[in-house]
Amino acid sequence: MRKIAIINQKGGSGKTTTAVNLAASLAEKKRTVLLIDLDPQASTSSWFGKSRDAKGLYDLFTTSKNINDIIEETDIDRIDIIPSSSWLIGLEKRLAQEVGAETILKQKLELTKKWDYLIIDCPPTLGILTINALTTAQEIIVPVEARIMALSGLIQLLQTIKVIKERLNPKLRISGIVPCRVDYRTNHAKEVVKELRTNFKDKMYKTTIRENVRLAEAPSYLLPITQYDPNCNGAHDYRMLAKEVIRQERGKTKQT
Ligand SMILES: Nc1ncnc2c1ncn2[C@@H]1O[C@H](COP(=O)(O)OP(=O)(O)OP(=O)(O)O)[C@@H](O)[C@H]1O
Ligand SMILES: [Mg+2]
Repeated sequence: MRKIAIINQKGGSGKTTTAVNLAASLAEKKRTVLLIDLDPQASTSSWFGKSRDAKGLYDLFTTSKNINDIIEETDIDRIDIIPSSSWLIGLEKRLAQEVGAETILKQKLELTKKWDYLIIDCPPTLGILTINALTTAQEIIVPVEARIMALSGLIQLLQTIKVIKERLNPKLRISGIVPCRVDYRTNHAKEVVKELRTNFKDKMYKTTIRENVRLAEAPSYLLPITQYDPNCNGAHDYRMLAKEVIRQERGKTKQT
């Protein structure tokens, strides 16, 4: 199972849109995906029509609850989800004194069923939930909003990832940075993408996700873009991203 955390501490960078639609594009290619919604805002959960009222994930972090008991099916074939919980807002405080709180999710990840991918949607912070995602995952995908020059935030993020890698998870690597909301009608967006490619070279995916209003509409219809509007630019771009993600498996031995 490839374990991928979708992270960027900057709010609104495209994490949830990427987590949901990358998952759907992988599922379309017959891959199975388990999504974990670690964001108390619960945007991924509500995209699949799931409530965040249950204590599920909160109990996972604070009690002996088994992870297999909080996995739910979605209406989309091959995608299952561990929904977020509004209780997660209090988790930081609850775990402040707890030794080893950074690795709770990793230790609890004893899944009885097999999926091809685990995709974790992270909150826009570098707190205990995101650190748990970074100790659990082997890979990181970083969506970057190409509307503003996001370089300084990205450099800070890469520094954090380096520290996590050294101290908690030596296997962690960046699978790719993906520019999101790219409006190719503006020179500014083109410049941002160019600047990202100059600075982060082979860490960049070739795919960029274009600004596409259909992507913003899709959550209200509780459908991933591949089903809400299968032929729009957004669906096309996320399929391209999924192709690139799958291509990264070439020549690699199967990960467990
Ligand atoms: N390619 C796109 N085209 C148009 N709108 C987009 C695109 N990607 C994301 N959006 C919109 O931008 C907003 C932020 O996107 P999203 O929720 O995916 O970001 P996020 O990083 O998960 O945010 P948060 O940090 O709050 O969790 C949403 O309203 C979403 O619909
Ligand atoms: Mg989000």
